[in-house]
Amino acid sequence: MNERIPMPLIPGDYAGLPPGAARCPGPSVQDIVARDAVPAPQILRESHYEFLGETDIDYRRYTSREHYEQEMTHLWAKTWQWACREEHIPQVGDYYVYEIGHHSVLVVRTGEGIKAYYNSCLHRGTKLRPEEGMGSAQELRCPFHGWTWTLEGALKSVPCAWDFPHVKPETYRLPELRVGLWGGFVFINLDENAPSLESYLEVLPEHFRDWDLGQRYTELHMGKILPCNWKTGLEAFIESYHVLETHPQLLHGTGDANVQYDVYGDHVTRFYAVGGVNSPHLDEPLSEQALVDSMLIGDRSVVNDALVVGEGETARTVMARFLRKVLGDKYGSDLSGVSDAEMIDTIEYHLFPNMVLFPGVSLPMVYRFRPLKDDPERCLFEILFLRPLPEQGLPPDPPEMVLVGEEESYSVVKALDPVLARVYDQDTANLRAQQQGFRASKKPGQTLGNYQEVRIRHFERAVDRYLARGFSKEENR
Ligand code: FES
Ligand SMILES: [Fe+2]
Repeated sequence: MNERIPMPLIPGDYAGLPPGAARCPGPSVQDIVARDAVPAPQILRESHYEFLGETDIDYRRYTSREHYEQEMTHLWAKTWQWACREEHIPQVGDYYVYEIGHHSVLVVRTGEGIKAYYNSCLHRGTKLRPEEGMGSAQELRCPFHGWTWTLEGALKSVPCAWDFPHVKPETYRLPELRVGLWGGFVFINLDENAPSLESYLEVLPEHFRDWDLGQRYTELHMGKILPCNWKTGLEAFIESYHVLETHPQLLHGTGDANVQYDVYGDHVTRFYAVGGVNSPHLDEPLSEQALVDSMLIGDRSVVNDALVVGEGETARTVMARFLRKVLGDKYGSDLSGVSDAEMIDTIEYHLFPNMVLFPGVSLPMVYRFRPLKDDPERCLFEILFLRPLPEQGLPPDPPEMVLVGEEESYSVVKALDPVLARVYDQDTANLRAQQQGFRASKKPGQTLGNYQEVRIRHFERAVDRYLARGFSKEENR
């Protein structure tokens, strides 16, 4: 597994293969996972790549106000987006305000279940709840003149009601948006004619059947302002091609170049990066024992006999076994049935438009990317850590989001491992340079790799589909 792989330096026809068929010459994810001691579930034993073309992607998609406005109308107002976790609103009266551009949605736990309302008063439009985030109330009272609705959306009282004989309670119910629940997430959709959440999720319910994110709680919620378009930000986190240049410290213990990329329907893609193996880019691969030693992040004082690679064992086996014990004890969970792959690999799903899910156990993250305050060249990148629910007792309450400013390092978030904080800081520097470079370029668009950047092409293609549907409706008016 540690053989040195000769790499061509100049692109061109590679081994006479059709476009999209070439792969990094290292061992594939499937080769590696097939040798695991505790086998991976079937869903990780399959690949699902498709060549999607090779034309450039126009930079104006990331810079122009016009494109931004089109997205606001035809994409953000038409797609399912997760607004919050169910644990953010556990009791009747708990609410969460979710905002996307100028859209603002009030998600409320009511006596009739979870409902979502347009966050705008039916008197003169004031936001019923001005700030994004969690809160609790027994009725929904506007801060301007005090019009009040029940949690279920019925008009309850209007100060000086004698002045509003034309306001009939039947027509002044709070308008609702569609709500869907999956994996402990509350999704909303501003489009009343959108397909169901279930069909929108495509393969996700099947792939996540044994990774029930509803059985997790939010341990950490942080946000970072990124100096780039929301798509620029997202796209840097759905390919692993940049690891070689941007995060060279990760080359030990990550199969960076032989990451597997999968594309499914319109809304879902995946990458699968194996851990506990050498990068095919390394001149001098590490031994299995050195791989184990290099993979430890966080508390290095825990190195002990459990981390010694025995005769015939691999680094993957040893790390997975060790983490099963350490994380199982820490979170009060039985992880004995979890495969090596699910313990140590980086498995990342993207759900269009802006949700990224890591179902693995050791880095159980969720990302979300949103435009920030109507600026096409700023975005809010959020990271949640979802830990397994303890088998006994209640999990802690979900935390408020910790916000990291545009010029600040991720290291201000004390709960984030410093090794990860450094990786994310390296990404921020690139994103700023890339967003500025879009405007500085003579060449009008970006050129993508056929395999390693296929998720970006798939994502941009889905953006186009939504915008095109909007245009065709406008033409038919
Ligand atoms: S704007 Fe809401 S009560 Fe007047
Ligand atoms: Fe990165």
